[in-house]
Amino acid sequence: MKDMSMEILGIDVGGSGIKAAIVEVSTGDLVSRHRHFVTPQPATPEALIRTIGELVADFHWQGPVGCGFPAVVSHGIVRTAANIDPSWIGIDIESLLKLETGCQCHVVNDADAAGLAEVKFGSAENCSGSVLMLTLGTGIGSALFYDGELFPNLELGALPFQGSTAEGYAAASVRTAKKLSWQAWSTRLNSFFVHVERMLSPELIVIGGGVSQRHEKFFHLLDTRAPIVPARLFNLAGIVGAAHFAFEQESSAG
Ligand code: BGC
Repeated sequence: MKDMSMEILGIDVGGSGIKAAIVEVSTGDLVSRHRHFVTPQPATPEALIRTIGELVADFHWQGPVGCGFPAVVSHGIVRTAANIDPSWIGIDIESLLKLETGCQCHVVNDADAAGLAEVKFGSAENCSGSVLMLTLGTGIGSALFYDGELFPNLELGALPFQGSTAEGYAAASVRTAKKLSWQAWSTRLNSFFVHVERMLSPELIVIGGGVSQRHEKFFHLLDTRAPIVPARLFNLAGIVGAAHFAFEQESSAG
């Protein structure tokens, strides 16, 4: 059997912090401590690329890098900027990261990365059929899988909803900003899930993002046809999935 073991530096870029660790991609285990850097503000391309360069140097890393990024990323190019600096649109993030770090860098949407980790090593491991991963944080990230295969860049959080967008109405950040009770926030989530289930009929819904660690506060208030489970890798899913994505890209490039 082909030896699938390989270490890759996984990075998860978020609005306030950037997390990273070296991941053994055959098991999804972290083989280094995970480190946390503050996201520069404003998070312009120059500032963020420099910070990621410092992070890669801090790990003395020279191998492949996988990076989850909170936007639509298509063939290494950033296409949207709902929760990031608008100057990112059109930027070839993979080429800039390679220039800065000297490493082969592969960039993927952050929710797609988290979903990949959950499908390979977490709550949706070995699940056939359709699995929807939703990350509830500053925004709403979404990732759709069928028989373990990713349909990339699904942006359910960007759906026009209740005079705003789905994420503007129901993200976890809205609960804290508006000081909503768990019940009131869950009612918002349920109205979003009605549309999601009507469109996609997922057979399993995995909830990630920081708030998934507090699932006992609100899962019993959710009313979906599909079973809902919390992400098993919690806030490390983005790192692990980004590394796994890089592994897949490296493998398909031969
Ligand atoms: C972005 C998505 C991202 C999500 C979670 C949204 O604002 O449009 O691409 O996955 O936030 O970070």
